[in-house]
Amino acid sequence: MAIIRVDKITDYTGQEVTIQGWVYNRTDKGKLVFLLVRDGSGFVQCVAFKGDLEEALFDHLVRLPQESSVIITGAVRADKRAPGIPGGYEIGVKSVEIVQEAAEDYPMALKEHGVDFALDHRHLWIRMPSQWAILRVRATIISAMREWLDGNGFINMDTPILTPAACEGTTTLFETEYFDEGKAYLAQSGQLYNEANIMAFGKVYCFGPTFRAEKSKTRRHLTEFWMLEPEMAFCDLDQMMEVEEQMVTHIVKRVLRDRQPELKSLGRDTSTLEKIEPPFPRISYDDAVKMIDEMREKTDDPEQKELLKIEWGMDFGSPHETELTSHFEKPVFVYGYPTQVKAFYMEPWPGRPEVCKSVDLLAPEGYGEIIGGSERMADYNLLLQRIHEHGLPEEAFKWYLELRKYGSVPHSGFGMGVERTVAWLCGIEHIRETIPFPRTIKRVYP
Ligand code: 4AD
Ligand code: MG
Repeated sequence: MAIIRVDKITDYTGQEVTIQGWVYNRTDKGKLVFLLVRDGSGFVQCVAFKGDLEEALFDHLVRLPQESSVIITGAVRADKRAPGIPGGYEIGVKSVEIVQEAAEDYPMALKEHGVDFALDHRHLWIRMPSQWAILRVRATIISAMREWLDGNGFINMDTPILTPAACEGTTTLFETEYFDEGKAYLAQSGQLYNEANIMAFGKVYCFGPTFRAEKSKTRRHLTEFWMLEPEMAFCDLDQMMEVEEQMVTHIVKRVLRDRQPELKSLGRDTSTLEKIEPPFPRISYDDAVKMIDEMREKTDDPEQKELLKIEWGMDFGSPHETELTSHFEKPVFVYGYPTQVKAFYMEPWPGRPEVCKSVDLLAPEGYGEIIGGSERMADYNLLLQRIHEHGLPEEAFKWYLELRKYGSVPHSGFGMGVERTVAWLCGIEHIRETIPFPRTIKRVYP
């Protein structure tokens, strides 16, 4: 008997199959029991008819608790009305092996749960269709980004998690004692190491967990998140934007190709995603400030008016990005931010030292920044000066500075936050649902 996975059920119409999974829901209708069974790859309705089964087994099914684990054999038939993901198919039950009858007190029983309760039971919450669908989309996004980079001449280089110094500013470091070497910090970014790696390999990327002791309690911030960081030698800001839009488009297309049932079950309107093609609009920070200011003028809501206050030189907050990107259907590049709001390593804009060669990619529909990147400073002396200005320890950056002495070249790179990308593509509010076990300032359990 073929053990199949529910996401492949369309290939087995009319055949007898076996599935292994868990009872997600059960409804009894006299001589019929409907079990909605999830097997990790999907949800399928299994219909047990009293006349087809031994009496004891049928009676057992009638009172089988949610989450009991089962192995079910039966014939697959197409039926448009059958619920499930993908749905439209059901299994006529011939036999059932009950692997474990679950305890009756399942905490995530099928009713409304508050977010805190759900997060406390994250180990069970991930079994529910919405969370399951989001995390399936996440896996596809990760697969697609690697696929694109591996297919376009990038090589994966793993960068360290334990590091001697800050990359994105000293305020958000997690620190730990490191034997006799003093303090070590959890990585905020693998970028600095990738700048060494490209001088050996040309085009590289790292992908791993990133740690920020962010005090921000917004729906866009986690303390532990996953970042993809490509870095390229002989690459300027414009060339990098082309790489970003190609890669992001590839990711969106893969998700649309492979994750339709999940997006549908999340109620995601995919019409805007379908329009995503290069080129993405490019606007300067200067113009973005003017646009936000005009939007602020137009609003009558006093609270919005306060939140949207902006002056040249300020970094954008979430409300600014939300407002700006709600007017776009495609992701939009904002380039040339003020030097004072960005990290120490960014190349100055030619002839405008108050601006740097940075670019953020903001996702549409109000989602905001998903990628931050820049052209990197190539000059040894200016870089040393910046390290001092930012109060960073020169000793820890000795190796980084040396990269500017031996064959320095124009180079650029960016970091894409996986969780924010998942939130955008799934159309969900809060990034705490985009990672299996979220870490925020208020949560390290479970
Ligand atoms: O803009 P960021 O801070 O850029 C860097 O770290 C660069 N060193 C990357 C590089 O050039 N190699 O972070 C990049 C992205 C953001 O655009 C956002 O998507 C995500 O990482 N990110 C976060 N995601 C969740 N929670 C947080 N606290 C995040 N901080 C940044
Ligand atoms: Mg950023």
